[in-house]
Amino acid sequence: MSPLSADSQLGVARTVKALRARVDAWRSSGQSVGFVPTMGALHDGHLSLVRMAARLSDRTVASIFVNPTQFAPHEDFSSYPRNEAQDLEKLQSSGCHLAYAPPPEQMYPPGFQTSIKVEAVSQGLCGESRPHFFGGVATVVCKLLNQVRPTVAVFGEKDFQQLLVIKRMVRDLDMPVEIVGAPIVREADGLAMSSRNAYLSTDERATAGKLNKIISSMADRLSEGADASDVLNDGRMALESAGVSRVDYLEIRSETDLTPVLYGPIDPAIPARVFIAAIVGKTRLIDNWPVRRA
Ligand code: PAF
Repeated sequence: MSPLSADSQLGVARTVKALRARVDAWRSSGQSVGFVPTMGALHDGHLSLVRMAARLSDRTVASIFVNPTQFAPHEDFSSYPRNEAQDLEKLQSSGCHLAYAPPPEQMYPPGFQTSIKVEAVSQGLCGESRPHFFGGVATVVCKLLNQVRPTVAVFGEKDFQQLLVIKRMVRDLDMPVEIVGAPIVREADGLAMSSRNAYLSTDERATAGKLNKIISSMADRLSEGADASDVLNDGRMALESAGVSRVDYLEIRSETDLTPVLYGPIDPAIPARVFIAAIVGKTRLIDNWPVRRA
């Protein structure tokens, strides 16, 4: 392998000061900056976001920070997979220019007392089963966007509600950044890539691979004009037979403002998605599938 030039070598910043020194130099030479926030444990899904940011901008920054404020005390903050050395190698080979990996005290110094609450779009779906979640996400993403000051930031559509929460926050707070959603990257059997897939046993992994098939066939039936309540009932039965431990939610909602569709055929004028959160073994998995419009 040929030695990397200083320009193609991934830099690592651990403080806002070091981060800004790099980003400000790029911006003052007229270069645009793309940003991908992550919690590390990077997989091809994250790397597709980095590649999209690289296509959309001259320089790319990715953050690695496992954000404590988006986990409830009973959730997996302490066991969340962490492997910074591997993450940095993956970022380097995906064309990222700078990794921002702050220690917790850089993000939440003593005395920190501010939080961001995005109202309606944070309610329902994940906001119902994880009431702490979107406040933690909005607060950390607001901080990260203020720290990096990117031109564009890319978020995956797997966390579709998160994407809408961030778009709403950026619009409401007049934050000078374009938010772009990127398509879900899937394993060969269609399972949406997630850092939490690493928790699954072999049997659980087989069950997890059925979720996307169930929601995609629900979306197909909806696009053929089937009644939403019939499709939801059949979907719940299919999940039970697939061996899912618990269904947190299975819902059809508008993809613009998350208005639920409970019955009747889908209005073809309103783009909709099937949303799922299910517990397989002890692992909570989420996914969503667009209803094709005629
Ligand atoms: O999607 C994630 O990985 C996290 O919620 C994010 C956006 C990095 C905030 O911690």
